[in-house]
Amino acid sequence: MILRPLNIDDKDEALQAHAELALDDFSFLLGAFDENEPWKNYLERVSATSRGEDLSNGYVPATFLVADVEGQIVGRSSIRHELNDYLRERGGHIGYGVRPNFRKFGYATEILRQSLIIARGLGIESALVTCDDDNIGSSKVIEKCGGVFENIVELEDDVMLRRYWILT
Ligand SMILES: CC(C)(COP(=O)(O)OP(=O)(O)OC[C@H]1O[C@@H](n2cnc3c(N)ncnc32)[C@H](O)[C@@H]1OP(=O)(O)O)[C@@H](O)C(=O)NCCC(=O)NCCS
Repeated sequence: MILRPLNIDDKDEALQAHAELALDDFSFLLGAFDENEPWKNYLERVSATSRGEDLSNGYVPATFLVADVEGQIVGRSSIRHELNDYLRERGGHIGYGVRPNFRKFGYATEILRQSLIIARGLGIESALVTCDDDNIGSSKVIEKCGGVFENIVELEDDVMLRRYWILT
């Protein structure tokens, strides 16, 4: 499994993954994705976000990569280069998701492991990674990648969130 940028040929598969993960209330594609936007434009926006250019309100520079196994997209990672108030409370440095048909094969663990190496390259020494308290799969992923549990916080919308720090 490799993490790589989205490319021009990924449109159909990425949209399919986006629809699948929406059923888990998880956005596969980076926020503010609009199906009517030309794919090329979208790719340019994702690329600009990684350079910290033209950031939408509330966004920080972030690297978006898809997890590719022999040419098939199985998941994705978003590595935020810094934290803002929202990410410090809720989202953390790294967000990942795996398509339903590819779950429980260790891909999320590998996505997080490789994302931590990329985070280190971005100068992040300690990465905040969070998950809902009832997301057993994700908490296992974080703990397998060296996550040190900090606390559980209750958010405004009654979500209980587990917060972990991982030395990169
Ligand atoms: C959570 C998620 C990322 C796990 O992906 P995955 O590729 O199945 O995870 P892995 O295969 O690396 O599994 C890691 C461990 O968690 C376990 N696991 C995975 N999903 C699980 C589940 N639903 N319930 C219980 N355990 C689970 C695996 O069996 C494995 O345990 P093991 O090491 O003891 O064998 C995936 O279900 C997903 O994308 N969910 C929707 C989006 C999401 O929640 N993203 C995370 C946001 S914080």
